[in-house]
Amino acid sequence: MKTVLSGLKPTGEMTIGNYLGAMKHWPLNQGDNRSIFFVPNTHALTARQDPAELKKRTLDLVAWLLAVGVDPDKSIILVQSMVPAHAELFWILDNFVTMGELHRMTQFKDKTKKTSSEGQLVGFFNYPVLMAADILLYDTNEVPVGDDQAQHVELARNIATRFNNIYGETFILPKAVVPSHGARVKRLDDPRYKMSKSDRPDSYVALGENAESVVKKFKRAVTDSDTTIIYDPKNKPAIANLIEIYAGFADVDIAKVEKIFAAKGYGEFKQALGELVAQKLATLQLEFEKYRSNEEKLMSIIEQGNTRASQIANKKLAEVKIKVGLL
Ligand code: ADP
Ligand code: TRP
Repeated sequence: MKTVLSGLKPTGEMTIGNYLGAMKHWPLNQGDNRSIFFVPNTHALTARQDPAELKKRTLDLVAWLLAVGVDPDKSIILVQSMVPAHAELFWILDNFVTMGELHRMTQFKDKTKKTSSEGQLVGFFNYPVLMAADILLYDTNEVPVGDDQAQHVELARNIATRFNNIYGETFILPKAVVPSHGARVKRLDDPRYKMSKSDRPDSYVALGENAESVVKKFKRAVTDSDTTIIYDPKNKPAIANLIEIYAGFADVDIAKVEKIFAAKGYGEFKQALGELVAQKLATLQLEFEKYRSNEEKLMSIIEQGNTRASQIANKKLAEVKIKVGLL
């Protein structure tokens, strides 16, 4: 049985990018795999957080996971800060990675392009190693993520290989699984960039957004210069992005979307897309409310997941400690 693991940081509102690139795929094959989904809340500390907000968003995220179909009886749902083995393995692995490797991480490079790295927090520099600990603790085979995270999974693999070479077979080598479409949903106002919850509200659609606002945002989404609805990411990046979003929410392939809208104009396409997304989100929001409104139940689901996760994680951590000579 293979182990599938992934996590979503509780920073900002979840967007349709997070959904199409990551969450949507997580409930698939839950029963056949050992599936572990978690909220990496200690990762959120790499940027200043309002404590009450961080706590709220952590619970929100667990409710979203349940809403998209992650089943707590088939999958393990955990909150990272409540399973201390993550932090402990992180420190050990920190000694199996070099400054050079971390400097090569795209996310860090992008952030330090404009400002010097001097002012960056060590946690931000270092967090791919915590992510490696998250993954390696559970003998993870596959990590379903959007393509921006693939490099971090590759780093986890390199750290695992290095450790195994020194101490013998300890960690399974993980690989990233990136969806063929929706792996990088672009901003609605500028398709050159990835949609992100940390940008201005016009650029993204949040999972919790109401129908009117969703339809309006798609209506305003930028398009390309000609008028045909064909998938050509290179020459028509705006329409290609909208086609991918449609395909993701309608669960059809790209060719089907082109066919449906072959004789239609941009206006009609964007209206249909807005309505489709609004309708799907409304269903998800109802599910979300169901779980979010009962905090006691939510906490008991988290406790159940943490207990199961700790059993696996503590065993791996104990093995690692013995191997490196820690009492
Ligand atoms: P954000 O950039 O919105 O802060 P995160 O870095 O927390 O998102 O990413 C959480 C997960 O969602 C990761 O698996 C990431 O690859 C995926 N993801 C984030 N943004 C997008 C996007 N625009 N398109 C596809 N997947 C995305
Ligand atoms: N770093 C990921 C992000 O920013 C979140 C994350 C933390 C994660 N640990 C993970 C994803 C382990 C997959 C596996 O989105």
